[in-house]
Amino acid sequence: MDTLKFRNNDPLHAIGLGTWKSEPGKVKHAVKHALKVGYRHIDCAAVYNNEKEVGEALTEIFKEGDIKREDVFITSKLWNNAHRKEDVKPALMQTLKDLQLDYLDLYLMHWPVAFKSGLEGFPESDDDFLSLDEVSLSETWEAMVELKQEGLIKHAGVSNFSKEKLQDLMKETDLIPEMNQIELHPYLHQSELVEFCHANQILVTAFSPLGSQDRTEAMKADNEPTLLENDVIKSIADKHSVSPAQVLIRFHLERQVATIPKSTNEGRIEQNFESYKLNLDGEDLQKLKDLDNHYRYVNGKFFETSDGKYSNIYDE
Ligand SMILES: NC(=O)c1ccc[n+]([C@@H]2O[C@H](COP(=O)([O-])OP(=O)(O)OC[C@H]3O[C@@H](n4cnc5c(N)ncnc54)[C@H](OP(=O)(O)O)[C@@H]3O)[C@@H](O)[C@H]2O)c1
Repeated sequence: MDTLKFRNNDPLHAIGLGTWKSEPGKVKHAVKHALKVGYRHIDCAAVYNNEKEVGEALTEIFKEGDIKREDVFITSKLWNNAHRKEDVKPALMQTLKDLQLDYLDLYLMHWPVAFKSGLEGFPESDDDFLSLDEVSLSETWEAMVELKQEGLIKHAGVSNFSKEKLQDLMKETDLIPEMNQIELHPYLHQSELVEFCHANQILVTAFSPLGSQDRTEAMKADNEPTLLENDVIKSIADKHSVSPAQVLIRFHLERQVATIPKSTNEGRIEQNFESYKLNLDGEDLQKLKDLDNHYRYVNGKFFETSDGKYSNIYDE
């Protein structure tokens, strides 16, 4: 398996298992199966509402004895309703309780967006948001860094951060984020942001690598393109006798980027893991580069407010 290195040389398996939308009743089996077939990197989040079941899977696997806690890299994310400094540690403690762990390998600020403390569900009006003047990203970030100093998390990072937001954070705090988890795939290369991260020793993880087709219809744009059915991707897959998903996963490894395809299906979990064995050549990579049309599946518009607190989340 391709491995990336954090600033302190801690390794990260470049293919992990995503768990957003992994249903209760399925996610436990998915996580256990993934670990049994070789995954050592699991991506979780409080807002996925399935961390308790992921925790059961981890506990059962560790009890079996072949795989130990320290063999598995576990990420979770701070939800937007806990950005005030006094809310950050309690949110982590709830995640640790649900996952039945005493530390996380990586904790990410899920979005550069703050809701009112403790807000349940999604905001229904502008009043449910806190502006970044009321709770700055650096306030939240500094509270996350304290968790690292306390030994509750091994690495701290962010998600959905633009280059501008990273630069602002880097000006205001001592610890540069160690990870930026962002949407990336052949329709969305974000080369400038990836290069900026790498130049600053910020690892990058690609989310929605397969085009996130299991999102609810409400989250989908009309006529959105289907990555897995793209003719260029299919032709590269045919050339190497692999599946389109495997091309989409390997694409990130060629860029020194980690990726976390989600599946609850045994066969697809295995297939996705096996992508590390594929080798894409220069011609394949050029064809994938030419597909870049800056298309986002997760476009962030659901966090825009009409009072101007939040607009243009990605600063583009
Ligand atoms: N930080 C963030 O804001 C953020 C945002 C989005 C996602 N994420 C993370 O990134 C992970 C992955 O992104 P995602 O869940 O949006 O979508 P994704 O991984 O791009 O796509 C998941 C979809 O692809 C299907 N699939 C999986 N393997 C396949 C294969 N080999 N062939 C064909 N179809 C396949 C899955 O179905 P089956 O399950 O039925 O196989 C599911 O419908 C998430 O689960 C989450 O952990 C983070």
